[in-house]
Amino acid sequence: MNTNRTISPNVGSDGVAAVLKRIIAENGRRHVRGYAFAITCLVIVASTTAFTAWVMESVVNEAFANKNADVVWLICGSIFAAFVLRGFATYGQAVTLSMIGNNIVATYQRRLFAHLMTLSLGYFTEARSSRLAAQISENVNGIRDVLNLTVTSTARDLLTLVALIGVMIAKDPVLTAIVFLVAPPVLYALRYISKRLRVATRESVLLNSHVLGSMQESVQGIAIVKAFTMEDELARKVEGIITAAEARANRIARLSERTSPLTESFAGLAISSVLAYAAFQSIYGDVLPGAFFSFVTALLMAYDPAKRLAKLQVQMERAVVNARMIYEILDMETHQRDIPGAKNLVVTDARIEFRAVKFSYANGEGVLKGVDFVAEGGQTTALVGPSGAGKSTVISLVPRFYDPADGQILIDGQDIAGVTKASLRKHLAYVSQQPYLFEGTIRDNIRYGRPDATDAEIEAAARLAYAHDFVLAQPQGYDTPVGENGVTLSGGQRQRLSIARALVRNAPILLLDEATSALDTESEAAVQKALEEAMSGRTVIVIAHRLSTIVKADKIIVMLDGKIAEQGTHEALAQRRDGLYARLNNLQAHPAASDAI
Ligand SMILES: Nc1ncnc2c1ncn2[C@@H]1O[C@H](COP(=O)(O)OP(=O)(O)OP(=O)(O)O)[C@@H](O)[C@H]1O
Ligand SMILES: [Mg+2]
Repeated sequence: MNTNRTISPNVGSDGVAAVLKRIIAENGRRHVRGYAFAITCLVIVASTTAFTAWVMESVVNEAFANKNADVVWLICGSIFAAFVLRGFATYGQAVTLSMIGNNIVATYQRRLFAHLMTLSLGYFTEARSSRLAAQISENVNGIRDVLNLTVTSTARDLLTLVALIGVMIAKDPVLTAIVFLVAPPVLYALRYISKRLRVATRESVLLNSHVLGSMQESVQGIAIVKAFTMEDELARKVEGIITAAEARANRIARLSERTSPLTESFAGLAISSVLAYAAFQSIYGDVLPGAFFSFVTALLMAYDPAKRLAKLQVQMERAVVNARMIYEILDMETHQRDIPGAKNLVVTDARIEFRAVKFSYANGEGVLKGVDFVAEGGQTTALVGPSGAGKSTVISLVPRFYDPADGQILIDGQDIAGVTKASLRKHLAYVSQQPYLFEGTIRDNIRYGRPDATDAEIEAAARLAYAHDFVLAQPQGYDTPVGENGVTLSGGQRQRLSIARALVRNAPILLLDEATSALDTESEAAVQKALEEAMSGRTVIVIAHRLSTIVKADKIIVMLDGKIAEQGTHEALAQRRDGLYARLNNLQAHPAASDAI
């Protein structure tokens, strides 16, 4: 299996700024008004904060130097008002920004789902679905973090910081310059930390999704796990990944918290230098204390936002790794796009023709090695042959789950590579070898065959598929929920529902991959009889292991190792002395050997 795409810890070349730019370009316009309101609130927060520092000078000078009580009252009142205002503005921006963030997360979830639905089957056989799901849920939160961090922290903290620095410069430019001496080394160190964090974060997301994926897989296969007492074996396997994930998380914690000793030390240096300078100035010089108080207030107030901003790049790095992983999925080419100018498929006789079709799955080995046959319109063509011969592969090429490497598939003379996939699939109904049901009621599951089917049509299809009686025996009849992938139903019942789903579609072409294999002989005979009715007038390609079910087929194609070994009617093939079909037929005719294939 090629898992490179999902687990390579490759770092991606886009920088934080590029990813941010893209997120904003894609989402900014929709939220202009929200952002404008939030930024207004943020400006209020920043200016009230700066105002508090600014008036310190007046408080101190009026109180200590001029001893003017009235002015002190006024100033203290205004400080109180500033705090109240700041409270409301903080509330306004936080709520607005969270709502925008939630909306953007929802938008990405929608986009991801829509995009995943367009990717070809090949992608999903390569990527482990449970791991993919876990990865995506982690990644989407990454986008939310990017937004919350940029807008909240950057806007609020940066605005506040700028305003406070303004106050500092106004009150004492020399002291401000001293403070700024510590900036370059801090910035340099942060850069270094965030680069290392980038790699660790990506590895961590992948390991986490691996842990969740393994758990989900084990839970889904719980019956097999217990039957084969695989618990210890699986625990050992998961243990390794969990330990690695834990170690990685610890590493991330150490790296990102390394900013604290760094910023604290430098801040201590800056503050003590400032205090020393100011103290000496007041000891040996002759300055009023007010400006100095204002300056120190601004400096102390600036400390928190500055610290958060210093950490921002590091946190941002983490969030951006997630965001970037989402874009990797969103940017993944949808293979098998309709070719430019693709026409709609026009079905008249529904005659299907395979011309020298070659095909191999992603791992290389040739599975179909030149397959030529015709499934005549309105007739039933059966595919038989040993397991692994390529029968299911032949059927999966008709709906274009995969495209042939070579050769052509024609329906009524139109190459299916040149028609739109939607029009192609509209004319097909398909029953897969493993029946799949979706969470929902029985009725919902049949209706997926054709969303506009009436209840009467759904029941008619269920009757044809020999499902009506068991459905009525369910506690809520057609409205009984089937659970995840129909766990509450038996294998044969699931199979009959998926036949009903195909029948209700009422399509001219019917593809049946072992559609009745899970049924007992009696129900199989009954479904078979019903299917014969449904098959008449349609082009049917049917795969069967039990040859008894296809003796009446208009044509039988025997496949062996990716090629067609023989074809003809049951009578013709059964008479060939040395033929593969004759041999299989003989084996199945004698019950003692009927399990041989
Ligand atoms: N998704 C896949 N990726 C890679 N190889 C695959 C995939 N599906 C099938 N194969 C391989 O292709 C070959 C043909 O498989 P296919 O499912 O078409 O056989 P089949 O004739 O339907 O067998 P069965 O009767 O057991 O259903 C097999 O060797 C199988 O290993
Ligand atoms: Mg098969």
